[in-house]
Amino acid sequence: MRAITLANNGGTENLILTQIPTPKINENEVLVRVKAIGINPVDAFVRNHQFALEMFIKPQPGETVIIGWDISGVVEAVGRQVTLWKPGDEVFGMVNFRGHGKAYAEYVAAPADQLALKPENVSHEEAAAATLAALTAWQALVTYGKVKAGEKVLIHGAGGGVGHYAVQIAKHLGAYVIGTGSASKKDFILGLGADRFIDHASEQFETIVNDADVVIDSLFGDHIFRSLEAVREGGRIIALLVPFTDEKLAGKVQEKNLYAHTLNVTSNGEHMQQLAALLKSGEVRSHVSASYPFEEIAQAHNAIEIGKTLGKIVVTLP
Ligand SMILES: NC(=O)c1ccc[n+]([C@@H]2O[C@H](COP(=O)([O-])OP(=O)(O)OC[C@H]3O[C@@H](n4cnc5c(N)ncnc54)[C@H](OP(=O)(O)O)[C@@H]3O)[C@@H](O)[C@H]2O)c1
Repeated sequence: MRAITLANNGGTENLILTQIPTPKINENEVLVRVKAIGINPVDAFVRNHQFALEMFIKPQPGETVIIGWDISGVVEAVGRQVTLWKPGDEVFGMVNFRGHGKAYAEYVAAPADQLALKPENVSHEEAAAATLAALTAWQALVTYGKVKAGEKVLIHGAGGGVGHYAVQIAKHLGAYVIGTGSASKKDFILGLGADRFIDHASEQFETIVNDADVVIDSLFGDHIFRSLEAVREGGRIIALLVPFTDEKLAGKVQEKNLYAHTLNVTSNGEHMQQLAALLKSGEVRSHVSASYPFEEIAQAHNAIEIGKTLGKIVVTLP
């Protein structure tokens, strides 16, 4: 089969299209013929840095590295113990995150319990998009944020991969949603259902919001301190990038009596089923702003690395 292997850490020239054996499946896995792959900032991060490769994939010594985790495709074969799926089923999911997902390939061996049935009204591109980013939004808002109807939720980067799912899921949960983004994304973010838009370049969100029940912060650095200003006393703050171990940060969390959690998204078939139901009902939609053929995956990496993505970027296979 064809796969994109990572020869060395560094630029996109290290993503090598090559022929390797089709993976063998174990008794709890299914072999998926991949039709589309979701691209995330972490893909480029792992490509760029050896420490990130160790942190997210931890390959065995000498093992061929294939990055990527997000797939949608067709079940080709099932392991002996698999009862959930049969050949021909169309499935999607985030495979083995954190771990070696090996998604940049024509065939992927995926644990059966990490997948969901792709709704018929959703394309493979849209399904592949609604995996790592959508699971992150789900786990941030539902699992850890425990968002309830009527609550005020502030979502940063609301026009990006995670953010655009988070806005839609928070609306589904009945929240009043405020989304931040750049001015060019205003109509998109409001179109997703956000009740209020804040332009991060020209407005200071913490001077506008100081009573959010839940804040989802997807940025690096001191931004988290500003988010702490925006959350009400006793509220919840979910960070995607920053740990709350810093003394000053921990002090602020304690001062405001907050629930603060740094999310590490994990593969979860049950959460995938919930997302599949929302995609099926149309309450959540994937906005795929760019799609590249498999051979042009380097371009997808160049695009995701800019950090200005609108919705999602995917790669497709015939
Ligand atoms: N911890 C985890 O488990 C986890 C899971 C998923 C993602 N992440 C991380 O979370 C971050 C977001 O992921 P993603 O997939 O959504 O990335 P993405 O698709 O690149 O979207 C990021 C969005 O943030 C917007 N943005 C940039 N600066 C901003 C600012 N100062 N204020 C508000 N919005 C801003 C960007 O565009 P505009 O500036 O044009 O609005 C873009 O739309 C990434 O760093 C990713 O690695 C972590």
